[in-house]
Amino acid sequence: MTGARAVSRCDQLGAPPYSDMPGGLFRAYLTPAYFAAQDALAGWMAKAGMTVRRDPAANLVGRYEGVDPQAPALIIGSHLDSVRDGGRYDGPLGIMLGIECVASLSAQGKRLPFAIEVYAFGDEEGSRFPAAMLTSRAVAGTLHPATLDMADADGVSVAVALPGDIDAYLAAARRPRTTLAYLEAHIEQGPVLEADGLAVGTVTGIAAQLRYSVVVRGMAGQAGTTTMRLRRDPLAGAAAMVLAVEQLARSDNSDVVATVGVIEAAPGAPNVIPGEVRFTIDVRSGVEARRDAVAEAILARIAEIAKARDLEIAIERIHDLPASPCDPVLMDLMDAALAAAGQPVRRLVSGAGHDAMNMAALCPTTMLFIRCKGGISHNPAEHVDPADAEIALKVMLGFIERLAARYA
Ligand code: GLV
Ligand code: MN
Ligand code: MN
Repeated sequence: MTGARAVSRCDQLGAPPYSDMPGGLFRAYLTPAYFAAQDALAGWMAKAGMTVRRDPAANLVGRYEGVDPQAPALIIGSHLDSVRDGGRYDGPLGIMLGIECVASLSAQGKRLPFAIEVYAFGDEEGSRFPAAMLTSRAVAGTLHPATLDMADADGVSVAVALPGDIDAYLAAARRPRTTLAYLEAHIEQGPVLEADGLAVGTVTGIAAQLRYSVVVRGMAGQAGTTTMRLRRDPLAGAAAMVLAVEQLARSDNSDVVATVGVIEAAPGAPNVIPGEVRFTIDVRSGVEARRDAVAEAILARIAEIAKARDLEIAIERIHDLPASPCDPVLMDLMDAALAAAGQPVRRLVSGAGHDAMNMAALCPTTMLFIRCKGGISHNPAEHVDPADAEIALKVMLGFIERLAARYA
């Protein structure tokens, strides 16, 4: 039951020292919990028969050599970091299943025409630094060096947090001819598979994402003496803006979703009218044009609200990833592996972002979704049935077998 072992290893990494938060899971990029989890992973990778290295972006990479060391490798990857007070499987399950694929092959003494490299990516969630998916962008060769020039909420820069040399960061990039394909298994983080009574499904593509950071400035003041008419309250303005974000996405009547997930008022005291408010906006859709149309409407409405309330605004686009279709040939191989494992073939789209979005710039990508209870994710209640992980492992091995047969 090595699928069950993959699940129990995620559980093991769900508490300190693999979490920086007592009583729950928070593992952000380049924190003590992150490095503790890498150490545990390195042991499991080595035990499965892989050589292990940490690349210049602080990804952990295990390699299981193929018959021809020069042949381009199949990468199996997912992320090790989590959101704050997150679930245990969003990210790590895909890494653990990659390790189990290799453990199964090496137990049988099987070498493939190509190597398998299992990547544990570092920063998919963007829960520490203002940008997200730094490390898979570095591996895909799409990371702009200026993006690295940033710091976390405590003022610690990426350069300081990184164990290696920041100037070498982009050397994590793989040359396209070293890479055959990218496979990522991930919990669905939504309700579709469960509703259809299915354990797993083939992903067709990933929705486009856009993120903004918004600063609203007004006038800080005395809560008791400043009359209501004289106020320039950026928090009341931001409240109107947040409702506009929700309303504009809703009224699009499409697959567009928009979220304000962070909001902070400064200086933050019960008897002070705030002087400044910062919040984020995340907008997504499977269709980039729809995403962009709603995002434009949101920005225009925010400007109107600011003007009407005499507030200043500064808006920065901090994240922009296009929709990422999965490779049609690899999708067919995945469907065939599903059928061979006795699973009904089901295709579904991903509203959540994944490192596969970046890897698509490097090589053809494919994803397998695994059912999670109630579709709940980014929540400690996230749950995966070990029997479903077992099925996912079988499908992944079937996919690898079919890819090898094509390649041979
Ligand atoms: C990742 O979890 C995302 O979809 O933002
Ligand atoms: Mn996530
Ligand atoms: Mn994830």
